[in-house]
Amino acid sequence: MDTSYLLTHLGEEREEYYNAVIPPIMQSSNFAYNSLSDFRSAILNELDNFVYSRGNNPTVAILRQKLAALEQAEDALVFGSGSAACAVAIISQLQAGDHLLSVQSPYSWTYKLISKFLSRFGISYDFIDASNLQEIEAAIRPNTKVLFLESPNSLTFELQDLAACAALAQKHGIRTICDNSYASPIYQNPIALGIDLVVHSATKYLNGHSDVVAGVVCGSKALIQKMFELDYMALGPAISPNDAWLLLRGLRTLPLRIQKSNEHAKKVVDYLAQHPKVDYVLYPGHPSHPQYELAQKQMSGFGGLFSVNFKAKRIEQMERFSEALMPTFLLAVSWGGFESLQVPTACFYNLGTAPPPPLPFSFVRYYVGLEDPDYIIDAFEKAFVHLED
Ligand SMILES: Cc1ncc(COP(=O)(O)O)c(C=O)c1O
Repeated sequence: MDTSYLLTHLGEEREEYYNAVIPPIMQSSNFAYNSLSDFRSAILNELDNFVYSRGNNPTVAILRQKLAALEQAEDALVFGSGSAACAVAIISQLQAGDHLLSVQSPYSWTYKLISKFLSRFGISYDFIDASNLQEIEAAIRPNTKVLFLESPNSLTFELQDLAACAALAQKHGIRTICDNSYASPIYQNPIALGIDLVVHSATKYLNGHSDVVAGVVCGSKALIQKMFELDYMALGPAISPNDAWLLLRGLRTLPLRIQKSNEHAKKVVDYLAQHPKVDYVLYPGHPSHPQYELAQKQMSGFGGLFSVNFKAKRIEQMERFSEALMPTFLLAVSWGGFESLQVPTACFYNLGTAPPPPLPFSFVRYYVGLEDPDYIIDAFEKAFVHLED
């Protein structure tokens, strides 16, 4: 389906709301029926009808259609956060006694869900280097039910060969789930590569304006239906109609925004990669990335997120350097919005409460938004003085 068509028209039944170009925010918790038989048949299929907004809602339903189509999936569920989407996708495929395999370094709260939460319910797990197919195969047990992938991840950007992982998992009757937040459906479609379920933090590119926290799971009608009937309805992670409407508005410009971010990041990464004070850059779209060829094979673009390790001798240098980049780069978590952001690892040093992270204090994750790349490069030029010895 044409992306322009689906972003502008798919799911928009305008004659049902006075031919308004923009759909209304259907801010209602429940929906009334004119006959008992209509009410009964709606209750029998809540996923495709409007009964109660913890399940389905007309504003959310438009979003479901568009997100599913973008990911080349049959259906989608929308959540109040990306973490809720990851949690429900994973939980829906597991029972006590099952075993899960996951990439070594998934998003931090996915890591905690697997290692601290699921283990409370009798689910065992192994974190593996999923870029190595032999390592995956060797870790598979008779009770392995899920292979969780995140390609690329959003801090150190390791990739997995999604088609090869999907084929291996299928051979062993294992479900594959891939967090596709980094690439967005514009630059990577895991379902087309054989993955069963795709999850997103829609807080990132899909919404793109840093004003909504949301998540998505996309998959086959059968998997989504099963997830809806128990996990989604029982855990209640629904998005509000108001946030769904904002997400719908943000989604309309997704291709434009991510293409700009991609273009700008590429220029900034090229500048940084040749700078004498840069130790290395990590960006799947840069030839120096260790999995550059795989990235070229399974992705069609890379967006605005990358990391850099600088040649800094003291943490104080990194503190001054990072502060000098403000406000061009806001000091804030998340990414995928209009604004450039930085998360210096130095923030996690000297906390007093936790051991320092496994990354050096000179490592910084950047997100380049919609600002002019020359404006961003100029900010770096001025800040580099703080890294001089
Ligand atoms: C890769 C990835 N997956 C999932 C999440 C969780 O999404 P949310 O913050 O929308 O709950 C994040 C959040 O940063 C993320 O970066």
